Amino acid sequence: MDREFSYTQAHFEQVQAKLYELAGIQLDTSKDALVYSRLVRRIRSLKVGGFANYFVYLQNTPSETQEFINALTTNLTSFFREPHHFDILKGYLQDHPGNLRIWCVASSTGEEAYSIAMTVAEHYGQFDTPVEIIASDIDTDVLTAASAGIYKRERIESIVPQRRKQFFQRGTGGQDGKVRVVPELKRMVEFAQINLLEPSWPIRSTVDVIFCRNVMIYFDKQTQLALLTRLVALLPSDGLYIAGHSENFSAFAQVVRLAGQTTYYPVRG
Ligand SMILES: C[S@@+](CC[C@H](N)C(=O)[O-])C[C@H]1O[C@@H](n2cnc3c(N)ncnc32)[C@H](O)[C@@H]1O
Repeated sequence: MDREFSYTQAHFEQVQAKLYELAGIQLDTSKDALVYSRLVRRIRSLKVGGFANYFVYLQNTPSETQEFINALTTNLTSFFREPHHFDILKGYLQDHPGNLRIWCVASSTGEEAYSIAMTVAEHYGQFDTPVEIIASDIDTDVLTAASAGIYKRERIESIVPQRRKQFFQRGTGGQDGKVRVVPELKRMVEFAQINLLEPSWPIRSTVDVIFCRNVMIYFDKQTQLALLTRLVALLPSDGLYIAGHSENFSAFAQVVRLAGQTTYYPVRG
C-alpha cells in the first residue's frame, strides 16, 4: 500500500510498547493500519515529517503524551448500551435507599454516565438524589465531549420517547441536528480524568457500584487481575462490579463471584 509516510513494523512496535507503558492498552498486530491512520493526523498537523521524528517529538514534548493516548484509544459507546445492566442498577437502587456512590471508570463520551444518571433520576422521580456519580476516562478529548453533553440527534434515536423528552433538549440554529442533555442531568455527573494504570486514584472512600465496561478487554490478564483487585477493594461486600459483554472474570474467582449477567460481587478473603 502506498503511504504518505514510511511506516514499518518497528514503528508499529514502538507505538505498541509506548501505549502499553502509558495506558496498559495492548494493541493487537491487526491494528497496525488503524495506528497509522490515527497517528498520521498528528504527524501532519505537527509537520514533523514522519514516524521517526514523531517519536523524538513525543519523547521530548510532555504535552504530546496525552495527544498520543487520545489518538489511539477506542471510544465506542452508546446510550443504554447493554440495557440489562440498567435494570440491575434499578434493582440495586430499590434495595439500597440513601447515599450511594457510583463510579463509571471508562465513560468515553458520556453516554454511559448519563444513562446511569437517567436511571437514578427516574428511580427518585427527581434530579436531586442522594446518589453521587463519578465518571472518568484516560482520554481528555472524550471527557471534553462528555462534559459538554451535546450529541448528534441520531445518537438518541434508540432511547424511548419519554426519556428523550425528559432528559434532552433539541439544538436550534447552529446546533440543529444535535441534542444536549438537560442541565439538571449534567449536574448529576462529575467527570474527571483518571488513568486506571495510575498507582492511586483520586477516589475518596468506598463506591457502591462500579461500571467498568468494555475497557478491560484492552488489557492483558495480569493488568486485568491487578485492576480488578484494586477496583473491588473499593466496594462493600454487596457492592456491584458491572463488566462489559465480552469480559469474563470466572478465572478470577478469588476476587469476584457472579451476581448476574456480566455483573459481579466482590469476594472477601
Ligand atoms: C470502548 S470504550 C467503552 C466506553 C463505555 N464504558 C462503554 O462500555 O460503552 C473504552 C474506553 O476506555 C478508555 N480507556 C482505555 N484505557 C484506559 C485507561 N488506562 N484508564 C482509563 N480509561 C481507559 C478509553 O479512552 C475509552 O474511552
